[in-house]
Amino acid sequence: MRVLVTGAAGFIGSTTTELLLDEGHEVVALDSLASGVRDNVPTRASFVEGDCGDVALVASLGPFEACVHFAGRIEPGASMDNPEVFFANNVGATFRLVETLVAGGLERFVFSSSCAVYGDRVTPPIDEDHPVAPHSPYGQSKLMVEEGLGWLVSRGRLRAAALRYFNAAGATALHRERHRPEIHLIPLALDAAAGLRPYFEIFGEDYPTPDGTCIRDYVHVSDLASAHVLALGALRDNERLTLNLGTGAGHSNREVLAATRRVTGVDFEVRVGPRRPGDPAIAVADNARALSVLGWRPQFSQLDTMVADAWEAHPGRSATECL
Ligand SMILES: NC(=O)c1ccc[n+]([C@@H]2O[C@H](COP(=O)([O-])OP(=O)(O)OC[C@H]3O[C@@H](n4cnc5c(N)ncnc54)[C@H](O)[C@@H]3O)[C@@H](O)[C@H]2O)c1
Repeated sequence: MRVLVTGAAGFIGSTTTELLLDEGHEVVALDSLASGVRDNVPTRASFVEGDCGDVALVASLGPFEACVHFAGRIEPGASMDNPEVFFANNVGATFRLVETLVAGGLERFVFSSSCAVYGDRVTPPIDEDHPVAPHSPYGQSKLMVEEGLGWLVSRGRLRAAALRYFNAAGATALHRERHRPEIHLIPLALDAAAGLRPYFEIFGEDYPTPDGTCIRDYVHVSDLASAHVLALGALRDNERLTLNLGTGAGHSNREVLAATRRVTGVDFEVRVGPRRPGDPAIAVADNARALSVLGWRPQFSQLDTMVADAWEAHPGRSATECL
């Protein structure tokens, strides 16, 4: 298939682009480089720098059978400060993209949604029928796109999959997390282990969990990439899919930090700060639907594997090994 991947210079987009190319698809990789990194984009893809909401640019790229849409702002905290930026980029630009692609005959659209659509009052494990109640403009922007896509599907414009990721983690030999700013636990813990941060801060230790810290469902970026390829195929027989992508297993912040110490061999300082507003105590997926509909089997999402892969790709690793 001829596939447009937006956000292809980002963490999950670049990894998925690599796999789509391996599977024999022709990929045009579009990214504004607002937060992505140019050298993340596989050289085998045709790279176009630009905004996915730029109608003239997208139209000029020619027709596509499919689009995998990763492009977006990803920080829930920043979305509380500037909601208009998140709605303009994550919703406005997305529907300009969709309108342009549908006019060109697009058939399949795979969208990066998030467990943030469920909000903070969740009862784990969370299945796709769990009530949605986003607690940030970021989560709301994901839900708005899902709902808009639902209308397009019901009006016969395209087939669409909304993949609700839990916490992407790990790395591949070619791609690693390089968010700007970095907000995710494992890369921040690795920064502390590598001495790039003076300490690691846990946000709250008084949650109703066994060790008092939040529990999250981490899923390896390679497993996420394979779910996208499977979802593109599944849209042949399904008009609309809404699927959780998680492993169904949760790890507390303290467990992730222990894994980081095990993998790196470094005992870095950890400080405990106050809770962050909107953080649920436990966010763990019920992934039964993705397993059955896609035949998806996460292979690399064991905690130590994800931390080890992220460490292998981390720029601070070699400095630590010289100590
Ligand atoms: N990383 C996670 O744990 C996680 C969890 C749930 C959902 N998601 C979603 O998955 C997607 C990818 O996440 P990621 O971790 O790879 O983030 P990322 O920041 O690494 O990648 C996003 C990419 O989108 C690009 N971009 C942003 N706005 C754009 C626009 N208007 N036009 C073109 N390019 C644009 C950025 O430059 C960046 O390269 C995002 O939509 C995010 O909301 C991520």
